[in-house]
Amino acid sequence: MRTAAVVNLKGGVAKSTTAINMALILTMIHKKRALLVDNDIQANVSKFFSVHSYDYKSMEDVLRDGEAIAEDVIRSSGRYGLDVIPANMNMDAAAVDLMLDQEASQLTRLREVLNQVEDRYDYCFIDCPPGVGINVLNALAAANDVIIPIKADKNALDGMEELAEVIEEIRPYNPGLSLVKCLVTMFTNDIDVVKGEEALQKSEYSTFNTHIRFSKRVNSWTYEKGKSLVEVTPRSAATKDYKNLVLEYIRLAEGAER
Ligand SMILES: Nc1ncnc2c1ncn2[C@@H]1O[C@H](COP(=O)(O)OP(=O)(O)OP(=O)(O)O)[C@@H](O)[C@H]1O
Ligand SMILES: [Mg+2]
Repeated sequence: MRTAAVVNLKGGVAKSTTAINMALILTMIHKKRALLVDNDIQANVSKFFSVHSYDYKSMEDVLRDGEAIAEDVIRSSGRYGLDVIPANMNMDAAAVDLMLDQEASQLTRLREVLNQVEDRYDYCFIDCPPGVGINVLNALAAANDVIIPIKADKNALDGMEELAEVIEEIRPYNPGLSLVKCLVTMFTNDIDVVKGEEALQKSEYSTFNTHIRFSKRVNSWTYEKGKSLVEVTPRSAATKDYKNLVLEYIRLAEGAER
């Protein structure tokens, strides 16, 4: 299983859009087995796939229980065999308790659960909230790859240095960490955006060749529960870009595995 954490210190940069669509494109088009982890109390992924609940086990239990069983927290998305580990607001209290518990293995709770299903999936995506709380550190410690969606504007690189530092601090705890790549999202031909992308490409940070263009239809897609952009708006620029991004990611992931 190849695991990617989708992270950024900033909110609203298309982390959830990216995690959901990459996972669905891999299952729908490439017939891969995929798992999507909702690591965000906003629970956008869980609500999108109608698995948001307080009656079932979730990421709260992954963070709280040092011996959580993967089978207990995984739910079916009902779409193309994609599975989901859901989240709800209770995850926050579990994260605080974990942060305060000096005795616990604080960084590896998620990795231990994902290790149990290593052979059951080809790809796993972890949709993170903005920031680097203990649940995000767990994602970074569990990931082979870190995908950093960036809205290319005047402030495109804000927070990148801080995030890169955190990733370096986690590296010793995660020998499996391979790719760390920025992804330009919501690209337009506005001068600020073009300059923002250029600044990123010239920076020390590695960036996917594919960028994701802004498409008005993405906003209405958000309300199409469970469906991918490919199903809802097959001809939009963003859909084409996400399909190409997945091809680029598969090539990179398979290359890195050799
Ligand atoms: N390529 C795109 N074109 C147009 N709108 C987009 C595109 N990608 C994302 N959006 C819109 O941007 C908004 C934020 O996207 P999303 O929820 O994926 O961001 P996020 O980084 O997960 O946010 P948060 O930090 O709150 O979790 C959404 O309304 C989404 O529809
Ligand atoms: Mg999100």
